[in-house]
Amino acid sequence: MTDNKRIALSSDHAAIELRQAIAAHVASLGWEPVDIGPTTPESTHYPKHGEAAAKLVASGDCRFGIILCGTGQGIMLAANKVKGIRCGVCSEAYSAKMLRQHNDANMLSMGSRVIGEGLALDIVEAFLSAEFEGGRHGTRVDMIMEIEG
Ligand code: RB5
Repeated sequence: MTDNKRIALSSDHAAIELRQAIAAHVASLGWEPVDIGPTTPESTHYPKHGEAAAKLVASGDCRFGIILCGTGQGIMLAANKVKGIRCGVCSEAYSAKMLRQHNDANMLSMGSRVIGEGLALDIVEAFLSAEFEGGRHGTRVDMIMEIEG
């Protein structure tokens, strides 16, 4: 397990307040938020924000990434186009725990128009506190990454 405690955070305009609440929460849990914005409410394009956070994770600068848009779907799709990224959308904590335990995800996506802040913070905690189990799950994650080439 790495001692890198940095978490990349980004969103589009739909999730600025929720992203900032998550940044404060992960800091309170002992992580170092790397919040790359945006900070102003103008309409923006989620792919560039997903890509930017994903590159911080793929490069090893950040251990994890947490990204948000209205549904969590569009920004997740963009992040998963960056080589080395495994990102899933979660709307409840069980899936977030399994996303780490079975899928070794390095990024979590959520939708600000889907879930409220309390649930989002629970999902973040479930994601960050779970450990990858390896074994047969490692074989399957390796298979996913072989598709990527
Ligand atoms: C923006 O209106 C919205 O499309 C975006 O936040 C996200 O939900 C896309 O997947």
